[in-house]
Amino acid sequence: MNTETTNKDFVFDIQKIKSDYPILQREIRGHKLVYLDSGASTQKPIEVINAHEEFFKTINSNIHRGLHTLAEESTNAYEKTRTHIAKFIGGVKTSEVIFTAGTTESINLVAYTWGEANISEGDEIVLTDMEHHANLVPWVMLAQRKNAVIKRIPITDDGRLDLTDIDKIITEKTKLVAVTHMSNVLGTLNPVKQLAEIAHKNGALILADGAQAVPHMPVDLLDLDVDFYAFSSHKMLGPTGVGVLFGKENILDKMPPFNMGGEMISEVSFDRITWAELPHKFEAGTPNIAGVVTFDAALTYLDEIGMDNVHTYETKLTAYTIDKLLQIDGLKIQGPNNAINRGGAVSFTDKDLHPHDISTYLDSKGIAIRAGHHCAQTLMKRMGTIATARASLYIYNDESDIDALFDALIAMRKYFGHE
Ligand code: ALA
Repeated sequence: MNTETTNKDFVFDIQKIKSDYPILQREIRGHKLVYLDSGASTQKPIEVINAHEEFFKTINSNIHRGLHTLAEESTNAYEKTRTHIAKFIGGVKTSEVIFTAGTTESINLVAYTWGEANISEGDEIVLTDMEHHANLVPWVMLAQRKNAVIKRIPITDDGRLDLTDIDKIITEKTKLVAVTHMSNVLGTLNPVKQLAEIAHKNGALILADGAQAVPHMPVDLLDLDVDFYAFSSHKMLGPTGVGVLFGKENILDKMPPFNMGGEMISEVSFDRITWAELPHKFEAGTPNIAGVVTFDAALTYLDEIGMDNVHTYETKLTAYTIDKLLQIDGLKIQGPNNAINRGGAVSFTDKDLHPHDISTYLDSKGIAIRAGHHCAQTLMKRMGTIATARASLYIYNDESDIDALFDALIAMRKYFGHE
């Protein structure tokens, strides 16, 4: 494990952490904001907000093109984030870190390049029954284009992957296993390392959607041994519009590029075009420079806490949340109802109330949660519901936020006559 993910000296002072987030001072409908929708997007600490402003005030310029001072400084800042990410995810090579617009674009990049080149009729792509649409739609569409076959790893009633028949699901026909590292709905943490071993044993590649994992725990991609891994900046304190695709160098090298244009080429003539070296082959056009540079401040903030501390803190708060929700009559937790091998996305349904009504009621008390299908309609179907309410936690939440949620849910049931 790389050393940046651990910080034994950090003292977790939740009041100090909360004070780093200006938005948490806001009042919503007469109540202090209780933000429990970090699974959708996290709030930003002042360090990140300042870094964004500082970029435009001091070094704003295009990158990898100009020879003037600002271009050089901006390029260095952009590449500094790449180096930082490479360390943050376990010490991979910087050539293996590609900036994208987000997790969705990262996965589409793989589907349209590696997928187009390597999936043929009859090949099998293995998904799970808990995938976000971002890690489902690109593969279903690829399978349709290629007459390939989609297979699925089922889930148990308590929201864990059911690996009983895994040897029948991942076989020598499998070309790719695409799995979420942590479910955005159930919170379940999946055994990606074990699945990578099984995929590789069968000659398949594995892609993991890490959008909900990297922000919440130490992630070491060398240890997981995945071939592709995707995540987004905005779910880990950074700006929107920035994502990362990790790919093993020997695989990325053989893949055709995705977007065509400036900066991804080596030489261009009307009859022959050669590609730039990794990672630039996959970064056509002017990227989200300000976003990438600002992302570095978010990583530094997380380093200072230590991802092990982030994970320990959130696991305790998740246990507290589950314990409180289990005390409310009529509520059902959709997903594991203990804090073992799971993160802090806690979905629930109420036997009498629609999740949209729950969310609207909670908003009237200043509490932000997400309600709906969470971009996971196939999972909703498996769970026998059309939607859930979801509270999702991060390092700036504490027991007082969960108590506010608990009190509001009790009051809600009373308000709607379901005591
Ligand atoms: N994928 C994000 C969520 O789960 C948007 O809310």
